[in-house]
Amino acid sequence: MDKLIIAIDGYAGTGKSSQAIRLAKKLNYTYIDTGAMYRAVTLYGLNQEPRGTIDLNLLNHSLNHINIHFEEVKKENQTFLNNKNVTKAIREPRVLKYVSKVAAEKAVRSFLTKKQQFLGKDKGVVIDGRDIGTVVFPLASCKFFLTADAEVRAKRRYLEQQKIGIKETFEDVLINITKRDNQDKSRTISPLKKAKDAIEIDVSALNIDEVFHILYDQVLDKLEPRI
Ligand code: CDP
Repeated sequence: MDKLIIAIDGYAGTGKSSQAIRLAKKLNYTYIDTGAMYRAVTLYGLNQEPRGTIDLNLLNHSLNHINIHFEEVKKENQTFLNNKNVTKAIREPRVLKYVSKVAAEKAVRSFLTKKQQFLGKDKGVVIDGRDIGTVVFPLASCKFFLTADAEVRAKRRYLEQQKIGIKETFEDVLINITKRDNQDKSRTISPLKKAKDAIEIDVSALNIDEVFHILYDQVLDKLEPRI
């Protein structure tokens, strides 16, 4: 049976990665977290600068020194930046403060888009992000676009962060989410937007299982079209 490329795009904190991980497990596909790749490049940029800021020019010229890979450790997908496990570090607020700025850089986007296309070239992948259905894999056979009220998303993210020991107030999480949404939507290169052929799902009033069943049913339709 032909394997699919499943693209899940959408706003920050809509649960794209939880759904993508679950779908990948169920289908025995590979999960590609493109947000983690943008976050890892941002962390690299922050580490280049002692003052906690990012020199975009320096970062753009250092991209060929950046190596990002994923590994499954204790059954969880972990992100490595130049062989260092940065899974937790890339979730820190200082990374989130800059990531959308870094992600608007042409050189960064083209560097990561090529890597993502390479990782998904054999299909059998679930890949989540902002521009997967529009730019990275415009021919993907199964595309989703997740949305939800900003408050609902901020609440989810706030609870997630608390669980992994990241201390940020609910208000700050909400501000960051809204700011990133605006930056991601308004950038010139590969802005966050729904692909014409993506299925849009507003997850505000749905729980994780309900969203999963909607996605999985659509995937089954693609795998075994019902006559
Ligand atoms: O988890 P959350 O949805 O909050 O963010 P993420 O998926 O980890 O992505 C972090 C940031 O990376 C986004 O706000 C975008 O600025 C950028 N990003 C992007 O521009 N394109 C992608 N394909 C994935 C992420």
